[in-house]
Amino acid sequence: MAMNCKTRARAAVLLTVSGLCVSARADQVEVLHWWTSGGESKAVSVLKQNVEKQGVTWKDFAVAGGSGTNALTVLKTNVVAGHPPSAAQLKGPSIHDWAEQGALVSIDAAAQGWDKLIPTQVGKYLKYDGHYVAAPVEIHRMNWLYINKEALDKVGGSAPNNWPEFFALADKMKAAGYVAVAHGGQPWQDVNLWEGVVLSQGADFYRKALVDLDQKTLTSDKMIQVFDTVRKIGTYFDNGTTGRDWNLATMMVINGKAGMQFMADWAKGEFARAGKVPGKDYVCVPRPGTTGSYMFNSDSIAFFAQNGQTSATPGQLVLAKAVMSPEFQEQFSLYKGSIPARIGIPMDKFDDCAKRSYADEQSAIKSNTIVPSLAQGMAQSEAVAGAITDVVTKFMHSTQDSKTAVQALAAAAKVK
Ligand code: GAL
Repeated sequence: MAMNCKTRARAAVLLTVSGLCVSARADQVEVLHWWTSGGESKAVSVLKQNVEKQGVTWKDFAVAGGSGTNALTVLKTNVVAGHPPSAAQLKGPSIHDWAEQGALVSIDAAAQGWDKLIPTQVGKYLKYDGHYVAAPVEIHRMNWLYINKEALDKVGGSAPNNWPEFFALADKMKAAGYVAVAHGGQPWQDVNLWEGVVLSQGADFYRKALVDLDQKTLTSDKMIQVFDTVRKIGTYFDNGTTGRDWNLATMMVINGKAGMQFMADWAKGEFARAGKVPGKDYVCVPRPGTTGSYMFNSDSIAFFAQNGQTSATPGQLVLAKAVMSPEFQEQFSLYKGSIPARIGIPMDKFDDCAKRSYADEQSAIKSNTIVPSLAQGMAQSEAVAGAITDVVTKFMHSTQDSKTAVQALAAAAKVK
């Protein structure tokens, strides 16, 4: 069997598992990701081109579904079935979970000098047991509000700084015939909207509630106010929210059907792809009450061990280096709406929203008002994040009262 494999797969690392010949090809990488919207596909093609230029074949394993809802299920199924991809889009604590199970392979050979090039809030997830197992792609700011500029001007409004200003603007937009808030009613989008309202109570409050899972904070009056505010925001949705993808909600703001959307800055990739310019066609502002705070999400590419493989293949090392290259870091984020994860990439080619994201991130690091996104798996394990998601989604898709939701939230935080 092994002999046959050898003749078949040139330049391949050969492994024999349960009598089957499986190859982790050194000159090929299969990359699982969920970057399938217009802006996202454009961004990921930069990586594909980069590795292909270096003689490594890119086998695309794209699984549609915002926030990786479907992709992460496919990843689990494939790993359990003994067919992990060479690399996958992953983030936060889940990278350590995979590494703990022995699923990941070290890419130290490609990661020389990285310690100085990666901000600590991102870097802490990329290493396991002192070894790099993932490469950082970008940093996304989660707490943005996008506003259609024409709609804003038409109602004579200005970007809201706090909730009373937001609701006054939403009323005006509604009266002028716009869907005031474009929303996609998928669980992760519900939680992203909700976590932005949690952040409007302050970065310390957010951290105590969603990072420390402090029971007093979770059951506080302020948390009840959070749910009340979320309930009120829901009154500005249209009837078509159920299951709507985030990029379709963004499209409603792009084409002037809707006035506003609460979304992270991957929405900006869609505006950019539609030729829209910040300040002229749309406005990006931190969500009401969150101006000094920065809620982040950071994608990485994690490297999987295929069938007993103990060190990274040449193809995986080429991919790891490509992800960290200054060219990729800049171009990917220009298309995606994010800012580079790598320290020291010049921001001069970026638009005003990205420049603001970068400046706000730097000052939030100094003032300790930078927090990880719960909706994006940066703050908690999958079990806790999943339990909280269920509570928020149930609340947003029912008439449950805020006090009951807060009790359920406190219980969800105890899930192990
Ligand atoms: C996030 C991911 C982003 C973006 C978004 C929408 O989970 O980190 O890069 O792709 O989902 O699909």
